[in-house]
Amino acid sequence: MAEPLRVVVTGAAGQIAYSLLYMVAKGDVFGPNQPLILHLLDIPPMMGVLEGVVMELADCALPLLHGVVPTDDPAVAFNNVSAAFLVGAMPRKQGMERKDLLSANVKIFKVQGEALDKYAKKDVKVLVVGNPANTNALICSRYAPSIPRENFTAMTRLDQNRAQAQIAAKINVPVRKVSNLIIWGNHSSTQFPDASHAVVEVNGSVSSVPEVVKDQAWLNSVFVETVQKRGAAVINARKMSSAMSAAKAASDHMKDWFLGTAPERFVSMGVLSDGSYGAPKDVVFSFPVTIKAGKWEIVQGLKISDFARQLLDVTGKELEEERQEAIQIIEA
Ligand SMILES: NC(=O)c1ccc[n+]([C@@H]2O[C@H](COP(=O)([O-])OP(=O)(O)OC[C@H]3O[C@@H](n4cnc5c(N)ncnc54)[C@H](O)[C@@H]3O)[C@@H](O)[C@H]2O)c1
Repeated sequence: MAEPLRVVVTGAAGQIAYSLLYMVAKGDVFGPNQPLILHLLDIPPMMGVLEGVVMELADCALPLLHGVVPTDDPAVAFNNVSAAFLVGAMPRKQGMERKDLLSANVKIFKVQGEALDKYAKKDVKVLVVGNPANTNALICSRYAPSIPRENFTAMTRLDQNRAQAQIAAKINVPVRKVSNLIIWGNHSSTQFPDASHAVVEVNGSVSSVPEVVKDQAWLNSVFVETVQKRGAAVINARKMSSAMSAAKAASDHMKDWFLGTAPERFVSMGVLSDGSYGAPKDVVFSFPVTIKAGKWEIVQGLKISDFARQLLDVTGKELEEERQEAIQIIEA
C-alpha cells in the first residue's frame, strides 16, 4: 500500500467539514488505495466540538484512515500536507457589512498562506471553500511565494453541480448524462452559469444542451438566476447554508485535480487568471479547465456570445474590486 497522504481540512468543527471529512476519509477523493492522515484545524473555542468529530471519525472504523491530528495551531495543521481544503472562515453575522466579512477573512487567509509557505509540501494543492472564496485564494497564494500560484484554487464546483442538476431536471435525464456546464467568474451572485457549451447524452449519442432544451430565453434568465440564487434558497429552507452539497463539490474538485478529468470533459475551477476570454489578469476567476497529471489548463477557443460577454465583464469587475479592497485591508 502507498504511504499515507497528509490532508488538512480547516474549519474542521464546522458543518461543511462534518460531511467532507467522511467523504475524504472513506476514499472518495484520493481513491480506494490511498491511506490518509487527516489534519483538522479549527479555532481554540471549537476544540471541544472537534474532539467529538475525532471520536466519530474513529467510530467510523475506516480502513484508509491511518491517523487524525486535531489542532488549533496552523504550524501543526499545515505540516507536510499534500492537499488542503480551506473551509474555515468567519461567517457573515447579522449587521455585518460585506467589507467587514472581507476584512475578517482576508486576514485569516493571509495567516494560512504564510503557514502553508512555511510548513506544507511545495506541491500542495490548495482548495479554498471559505468565502469570499476567490479573493481568499488570491490572498493566500500571495503569502505563500514558495508554492506555485497555480496550486491555489477556489471552489465553484458547487455552482457547476447546481447548474448540471437544473439542466438534467429540465431535460428530464439523469444528472450523470449532462456535462461541460461552465461557471465563469466569482463564486458570488455575479457568477455566470453558462450552458451554451454543455452536452447531454441521449440514447447513446451526445447532443448540445441548447439544441435539446430549445429555450434560449429560459437558459439566459431562469436558469442563470436559479443557479446564482440557489445558495440563498437553501438558506431560506434549511436556515443554514449548503453543507452536504458543498462538501460533495469540494470532493469532486479535489478528486478531479488529483486524478484528472475524463476525455472531452471539462470542469470549472477558480484559478489564477491569465486573461483568457478577456477576464482580468491576476484575480482568481472561474474558468472551464481540463486536468491531466495534476495540472489544470484553461479550455481555449470557446465561442463567447454578446450576452455572455456582458456577464463575464460584470463578474470580472467585481473580482477586481474585491482584490483592491482586500489589498487595502491587508496593507492598512
Ligand atoms: N465556495 C462555495 O461554494 C461555498 C459553499 C458553501 C459554503 N461556503 C463557505 O464555506 C465556509 C464554511 O461554511 P460552514 O457552513 O462549514 O461554516 P461553519 O460556520 O459551520 O464552520 C466554519 C468553521 O470554521 C472555523 N474557523 C473560523 N475561523 C477559522 C480559522 N482562522 N482557522 C480555522 N478554522 C476557522 C469555525 O470555528 C467553524 O468551526 C463559509 O465561509 C461559507 O460561506 C462556500
